[in-house]
Amino acid sequence: MSYPYQITSLEQYHIDYKKSVDDPESFWGDVAGNFLWKKKWDSVLNWNFTEPKIEWFKGGKLNITENCIDRHLATMADKPAFIWEPNNPEERVRTVTYARLHKRVCQFAQVLKNNGVKKGDRVCIYMGMVPELAYAVLGCARIGAVHSVIFGGFSAQSIADRLDDAGAEFIVTCDGAYRGEKVIPLKNVIDDALIGNKTIKKVIVYTRTRTPVSMIKGRDVWWEDEMEYAEGQIEKDGVVSFPAEEMNAEDPLFILYTSGSTGKPKGVVHTVAGYMIWTAYTFVNVFQYKPGQVHFCTADIGWITGHSYIVYGPLAAGATSLIFEGIPTWPDAGRFWDVVDKHQVNILYTAPTAIRSLMGFGLDPLKGKDLSSLKILGTVGEPINEEAWHWYNEHIGKKKCPIVDTWWQTETAGVLISNLAGITPAKASWATLPMPGVQPILVDENGNEVTEKDEHGLLKGNLCIKAPWPGILRTTYGDHERCRTNYFASYPNLYFTGDGALKNEEGFYRITGRVDDVLNVSGHRIGTAEVENAINMHAGVVESAVVGYPHDIKGQGIYAFVIYNGHHGDENMRRKDILQTVTRVIGAIAKPDKIQFVTGLPKTRSGKIMRRILRKIAEGETENLGDISTLLEPGVVEEIKNGKV
Ligand code: PRX
Repeated sequence: MSYPYQITSLEQYHIDYKKSVDDPESFWGDVAGNFLWKKKWDSVLNWNFTEPKIEWFKGGKLNITENCIDRHLATMADKPAFIWEPNNPEERVRTVTYARLHKRVCQFAQVLKNNGVKKGDRVCIYMGMVPELAYAVLGCARIGAVHSVIFGGFSAQSIADRLDDAGAEFIVTCDGAYRGEKVIPLKNVIDDALIGNKTIKKVIVYTRTRTPVSMIKGRDVWWEDEMEYAEGQIEKDGVVSFPAEEMNAEDPLFILYTSGSTGKPKGVVHTVAGYMIWTAYTFVNVFQYKPGQVHFCTADIGWITGHSYIVYGPLAAGATSLIFEGIPTWPDAGRFWDVVDKHQVNILYTAPTAIRSLMGFGLDPLKGKDLSSLKILGTVGEPINEEAWHWYNEHIGKKKCPIVDTWWQTETAGVLISNLAGITPAKASWATLPMPGVQPILVDENGNEVTEKDEHGLLKGNLCIKAPWPGILRTTYGDHERCRTNYFASYPNLYFTGDGALKNEEGFYRITGRVDDVLNVSGHRIGTAEVENAINMHAGVVESAVVGYPHDIKGQGIYAFVIYNGHHGDENMRRKDILQTVTRVIGAIAKPDKIQFVTGLPKTRSGKIMRRILRKIAEGETENLGDISTLLEPGVVEEIKNGKV
């Protein structure tokens, strides 16, 4: 069996692609017809990129949870929606059938209602990778509340900033989360984030680690108590029900914060119908999902990959999605392969950084692991180097599993450029062809289409998209102008991705990396300005400049040049203090790998830091630093070069 909107041949890909470009309204109208609507849309697409204003399926009414859950109950009530593999392999696996998922989501929607959450309210979710995280997300969607999941690695300060920006009044969290040997005290972090906070009305706490927590009277409630009470409200004579809120196609579904080139993370907003259709469509087509298969996406639900390819995309397709609580290297570096073996995983979707780090352990961790269930492999988050691609292909896929290199972003909701597994051709470290509905264009700095090939016969430019696809972001929360300037103002009438790319004669794209001041560290997006702001908060720091440099495992490492004027401790102590500051302000994921103390930074006469020079020095380049004659103090370059760490 396949899905009505599943592309099953190369020829069909070309036909569908052409139709999606020539007549997007009829193409996406047909795809949308495969979903459950409470009321059909009036128009498929209205848009302009100048405001920008993008509306898909305007006038349509639906609830995404009916599409992800209720719709499947007639035929798949007993089929697993989620398989949960706990951090500790000795602990019991949990299988959540569609019927059970329906019950839990209805129950949690009732809990939200009982606690005063209404349609449109913002609910912040800060949890570990437990099925309850998915129930929380879907419970919000059921009643039309806007969820904003925050990755468990962010600090109290980051959470406080996001709560404030989103105007959130509710939080769902855990007492703690397991990560390998560690227990992360999530509720404590939330408590720190809430010091002085006057807007949060309720905090719902799920017990996972039984870490001691402080429960504040009137504000904090236990998940278990609330769920037990709600059970009696939603279940009558064995029948479970909780009405799914009727949502407009363009109502917001969630906010997800992501880093940009300015100091403050942006709240990317996705809306109900377009997001649902894009994630379901790309899930089914990129991975060529077949009903019954087990899909294992190793991302955290705190990132867009987890939203789209652990929760919404797979569920909208009635798939079985594996939620893994642990980390790839605990109890040992064979954990992924154990999970694949134990659950007979068919599709494995992970990040190049994970592959590179596991490669480092050699082939021993693979011994005795049955990987023969694997059919499709995928990568996401950063460019995959050829060595890692070949290792993945040979040792994991045994040269019989197509690898999809999926390029996309938080802002795009789902995959934009990727081969379709086994259907369209793959090429090591090339994302290859655009999905139907996606019209890439490479432009130069002035926004003109690049038409001249380089010496290798390749076009090279900044990657933009000419027209909207259903999953494109609609706004940045609370600040539409920011959305316009960030994505739609660099080049008129184009969505600018922030990435550079190459295009070959076959029309394949290869993503070369960010061309703005955004780093990609282990597949996580981090703005250099954000890290600089955090470093600059340290009392002894006068100024700093942060750049990326190539890192064998992480893809990019963070290199900070710091002017320091304090008197405390030696250089090593100061470094530790700075790292502690960054951990406090953003979270451990943003800690610089290298800190070099300098007496000055290379600046132009107008005071702009010449990052290009710093980037080259961080990369280990000593000779060709380019023209430094326009610098205010060219001498500083020599000093920085000599002091490289
Ligand atoms: O630079 C691109 C890189 O990750 C960025 C998006 O990051 P984020 O919004 O956190 O989403 C990551 C998961 C979709 C992009 O601008 N990126 C993502 N996938 C690839 C990639 N770079 C190269 N190849 C990819 N397959």
